[in-house]
Amino acid sequence: MSATTKLKVPTPADIVARKGGAPLVCLTAYTTPVAQLTDPHCDIVLVGDSVGMVLHGLPSTLGVTMEMMVLHGQAVARGLSRAMMVVDMPFGSYEESPGQAFRNAAALVAETGCAAVKLEGGVEMAPTIRHLTRRSIPVMAHIGLTPQAINTLGGYRVQGRGEDAARVLADADAVADAGAFSVVLEKVPERLADEITARLAIPTIGIGASAGCDGQILVVDDMLGLFTAFKPKFAKRYAMLGADADKAIAAYAEEVRARSFPAPEHLFGDALPEAKE
Ligand code: KIV
Repeated sequence: MSATTKLKVPTPADIVARKGGAPLVCLTAYTTPVAQLTDPHCDIVLVGDSVGMVLHGLPSTLGVTMEMMVLHGQAVARGLSRAMMVVDMPFGSYEESPGQAFRNAAALVAETGCAAVKLEGGVEMAPTIRHLTRRSIPVMAHIGLTPQAINTLGGYRVQGRGEDAARVLADADAVADAGAFSVVLEKVPERLADEITARLAIPTIGIGASAGCDGQILVVDDMLGLFTAFKPKFAKRYAMLGADADKAIAAYAEEVRARSFPAPEHLFGDALPEAKE
C-alpha cells in the first residue's frame, strides 16, 4: 500500500460485519498525542468516561460531565484518521428518558464528530438504545460490570456468576435486539462471555471477559503502566511508562539541584546565530 493511500474509517456497519472474524482491537484515549499513537493499531478508539479517574483524579466515573466528554472527544478526534471514535455518555446524561439521551448523544456527535456513543446498562436501557439507533445515532452497549452503577452494585465485582448469569444474558439479548452495533462485556466469567459471543449477531468486546470475544478493549493508561493508583486483574501492563517517567523526573530534579542542567548545549550565546537554533 502506498504511503498516500487513505484508509477508510470503519463504520458501525463495518464493525458488525467483523462479527466472528479477525478480533477488533480497541483502546481508550483522552488526548491528541495518545490518540495519534493508538490510531494506526486500533479499529475503535473509545473516549471513555474512565477519563475522570485516569486523568482528573476522580474517585469514580460518577463525577464526569458532558463538558469533559466533549473536550476530550474533540482532542481525540484531532489525533485520529483511520480508527473509529466512540464517546462515552457520562453518568446522568441519558438515564432519565430516551429524549434526554437523544439530546446529549446528539450533542456528543455534533461537537466531537464521533461515529457512535457508548452507554451502560442492559434491559432497562434497551428502549433508550432503540430510540437513539432509530434516530441515526449508533450505540455501543456496555453490560456486565457497569462502573456508573457502582453505588447499586456495591463494588467492582465480577457480574453474572452462578444464577446471576441469566440476568447478564437477558441484558445481552436486550441491547442487541434494541439495535446496538456492539456490546462491551466487562468483568464477566469467561464461559458466560463465550456464550454471549456465540449467541449475539453483533460483536462482543471484552474487558476482563474472554479471549473468545469478537474484540478486546483496555484503558490505555492501564496498559501503558501510566495509571498506577490500582490495577484491575484484567489490565495487562504492556509497558511501565509511569516508572520510566518517575526515573526521568528524578534525574531532572537531581541535575537542577546540582546545576548540571542546563548544560552548554541547551544554552544560547550572544553571537548572532549562523544556523537555526
Ligand atoms: O470508560 C471506559 O474506559 C470504558 C472501558 C473500560 C470499556 O468504559
